Amino acid sequence: MKKTNPNGSGATVQPLALNVVAGGAGFIGSHLCRALLDRGESVLCLDNLQTSRPSNLRALEGHPRFRFLRHDISQPLPAELTRLAPRITRVWNLACAASPPLYQRDPEHTMLTNVVGTNNLLHLAEAAKARFLLTSTSEVYGDPEIHPQAEDYRGNVSCTGPRACYDEGKRAAEALTFDYGRAGRAQVRVARIFNTYGPNMDPDDGRVVSNLICQALRGDELTVYGDGSQTRSFCYVSDMVAGLIALMDAEFDGMEPVNLGNPHEMTVNELLGHVLKLTGTRARVVHHPLPEDDPRRRRPDISRAGALLGWAPRVPLAEGLDATCAWFAEELVAEPAAGVAG
Ligand SMILES: NC(=O)c1ccc[n+]([C@@H]2O[C@H](COP(=O)([O-])OP(=O)(O)OC[C@H]3O[C@@H](n4cnc5c(N)ncnc54)[C@H](O)[C@@H]3O)[C@@H](O)[C@H]2O)c1
Repeated sequence: MKKTNPNGSGATVQPLALNVVAGGAGFIGSHLCRALLDRGESVLCLDNLQTSRPSNLRALEGHPRFRFLRHDISQPLPAELTRLAPRITRVWNLACAASPPLYQRDPEHTMLTNVVGTNNLLHLAEAAKARFLLTSTSEVYGDPEIHPQAEDYRGNVSCTGPRACYDEGKRAAEALTFDYGRAGRAQVRVARIFNTYGPNMDPDDGRVVSNLICQALRGDELTVYGDGSQTRSFCYVSDMVAGLIALMDAEFDGMEPVNLGNPHEMTVNELLGHVLKLTGTRARVVHHPLPEDDPRRRRPDISRAGALLGWAPRVPLAEGLDATCAWFAEELVAEPAAGVAG
């Protein structure tokens, strides 16, 4: 079967065309690898396994078109990638811990992953003449003064706080990516991802959806930070992966970031209500202080993604939460102390 050349020439690609997916053993990355394999493509996953779940990788390993290389992208890339360069058509950078407690554990490494790691992958894309996609984040808008957040909003980010290693790291990664694009060194794409949830998340990585569902399923107290009036907009992972692939596939100059997320905004208390209903837990809700620099409001303006990619999320929250909850319930059965509520 003929495939369109991802480099945009309109010619057909080699059947052995290869996607390099950095961070492919993580939550979103594992779904992306699966989707690329399902499209008949080949995947080389680079991951240092810092925040991945071993079962994410086990589910991909053994596939004849999947290979895994354990590697930290902040270090010089393995020489093998130079040898494979003629086959590499796309480089996806998803490598970075996304959960605040995890990326704050080693802030220097988080910053270097974003800056040096992104540069290493951009170099690879340049050498391979491959298209490069960076997964940036809504955190580049910081604690926003503009609502909803459109791509031309420049953000309200602290460069001195505990989240700066991630927020400023991603802003620097974007700057570097657009510099490569501007200089014609690589075709680039930048996705600004808003809160995403679904199966393959780490139950203990401290993000609000996984926290609340897992606490409810374990019969633990449910933790809400602040009074729960802060808002988030949650995108199901299959929608996110469809958006990332559409962005990588899209034929445009790539010189503008694209928000990907679900514009359906809700308070954390509303999310809590859904989780209580879904799990039937009677556990107590406890409130903890809001973490420093936690954004008060978050909602993407996705008009650019709609216009450029014809993309919009399709999975309603109730459906996505249901699937996520069912998946966590199965995962937690394996835990010795798991007490599934409901
Ligand atoms: N999930 C979200 O809601 C969300 C929101 C905004 C942006 N993003 C971005 O999307 C990407 C994927 O996020 P995720 O939720 O799947 O996170 P994740 O933590 O589940 O996955 C990240 C993966 O990258 C790997 N990794 C981290 N540092 C690395 C390094 N230096 N070298 C090699 N591998 C490394 C981890 O081991 C992990 O497998 C990240 O870049 C994140 O910043 C995610």
